[in-house]
Amino acid sequence: MVRVLFVCLGNICRSPMAEAVFRKQVQEEGLEDRIEVDSAGTGHWHVGEAPHEGTRQILDRHGIDYSGMKARQIVKDDLFEFDYLIAMDADNLGNLHKMAGTKKAGYMARLLDFVPEDKRDDVPDPYYTGNFEEVYQLVETGCKRLLAFIREREGL
Ligand code: 4NP
Repeated sequence: MVRVLFVCLGNICRSPMAEAVFRKQVQEEGLEDRIEVDSAGTGHWHVGEAPHEGTRQILDRHGIDYSGMKARQIVKDDLFEFDYLIAMDADNLGNLHKMAGTKKAGYMARLLDFVPEDKRDDVPDPYYTGNFEEVYQLVETGCKRLLAFIREREGL
């Protein structure tokens, strides 16, 4: 099983959106028995909460399931138990590297590293911008590219 963890700050806006979108893409490619998907936040403030209303609205509009998803805070073991740790922005990625220290963790990258033609490096935080549609577009493209990358790298 290849394990993929999406990481943002609160685990209520961006990373749950990426988790739900990526899981749907994985299912569409018939890989749900090979790729496991989860998300977590570096912060603790929203632990136990369902995705933010803005994220739910976008996912509903696109018919993407998010039932049962609840925010959780990342723990150190995640760094070594997940094969891919995909951060939404540079702060998240910096925190992952800091948590891992010198130990060899999973493959770490930012989601938009897989979308080099986009001038943005970070997925903007809609908790502050209110622009969930912009995030959805970036997440959808980023996840598609990430899935292609993982399929190639893992021979799936
Ligand atoms: P997210 O957005 O990292 O995309 O889930 C945020 C959600 C909550 C907070 C910050 C960002 N907060 O500070 O509570």
